[in-house]
Amino acid sequence: MQTDFLEVSQLDLASKYLKEGEVVAFPTETVYGLGADATNETAVKKIFKAKGRPGDNPLIIHISSLEQLENYVEAVPDTARTVINHFWPGPCTLILNKKGPIASSVSGGLETVAVRMPDHPLALKLIDRVGVPLAAPSANTSGKPSPTNASHVKSDLNGKIRAIIDGGETGIGLESTVLDLTDPAKPTILRPGGVTVEELRAVLGEVFENNPSEKLESAPKSPGMKYKHYSPEKPVWILPARLDEAKKVIDKLEKDGETLGVLTSSNWLERLKTDQRKGLSLGEINQPQQAAARLFKSLREMDEENITAIVVQPYNKKGIGTAYMNRLEKAASRIL
Ligand code: TXA
Ligand code: MG
Repeated sequence: MQTDFLEVSQLDLASKYLKEGEVVAFPTETVYGLGADATNETAVKKIFKAKGRPGDNPLIIHISSLEQLENYVEAVPDTARTVINHFWPGPCTLILNKKGPIASSVSGGLETVAVRMPDHPLALKLIDRVGVPLAAPSANTSGKPSPTNASHVKSDLNGKIRAIIDGGETGIGLESTVLDLTDPAKPTILRPGGVTVEELRAVLGEVFENNPSEKLESAPKSPGMKYKHYSPEKPVWILPARLDEAKKVIDKLEKDGETLGVLTSSNWLERLKTDQRKGLSLGEINQPQQAAARLFKSLREMDEENITAIVVQPYNKKGIGTAYMNRLEKAASRIL
């Protein structure tokens, strides 16, 4: 299949393709999504095929209005209304009990559905024009870092999907928070993301965190958690949190024959970069949102370099740093 590269002005063509049951990649505020008509089983199956995604890892449906929400979920509990009032449109996906004509492969056999309203004018316009929710996972090959620009999508999916809409760089750079509200009294974060646990607690009170790394082997509540994720081809190592210790680890790895790509804050990079060493900055050390925005892009860039491994600075697990560390820990683990 030949993939069309569309400008933002070509939304009509993109929506025509989607109405015809084709898949189209589009930008959101988090990462690029690979969209299909969520009510069309044949179309949704094409998403799984293009990504090489396991069928039991369900998809998020993207909506552009609250009226749409009422059509596809059983009920909207008060906790959901609170989250929606504060964070929609935005990077917070809600798991609710599903109803209505959503293709069954969207939810991979579950009775629930993941829904979000993206905070991106182009995505909202596209959903409006198609007139149905768009099922959309991140627009990468399964297991690879998620795409934060159209060229990442192209390098993974060119020739496998109908079109890519180029809307420039996404802002947040990591995926949405997935919040399970199927038990409204027990809001539980299944995947940390763009809306932080601290922000959710400020409006909901108690919020639980489902630590996926502890549950990797057992049946995960969020099925996507059991698969290899976000990994470039090159092995990824997480550095110690202290610069002097990180330096020692880097020296040791290089002594052992590794050629390293170093991915750290600009503050560390000044101290770690040498003429031979390839280094990329994740931004200011006290600006974790910059690291979040650059992580996936930088892992992809490092993969193109003539190196044998990538070493990455950890950030504090608070605020957006929690989502950053979640993705980094997955990129660094080789668990399948
Ligand atoms: O920011 C985002 O969320 C991006 C953009 C494109 O919207 N999308 C995204 O989709 O990251 P994806 O498919 O890569 O991740 C969806 C996550 C997976 O971890 C999946 O297991 C979980 O949501 N999920 C989907 N439906 C679920 C359900 N019914 N119950 C529990 N988890 C679900
Ligand atoms: Mg994904």
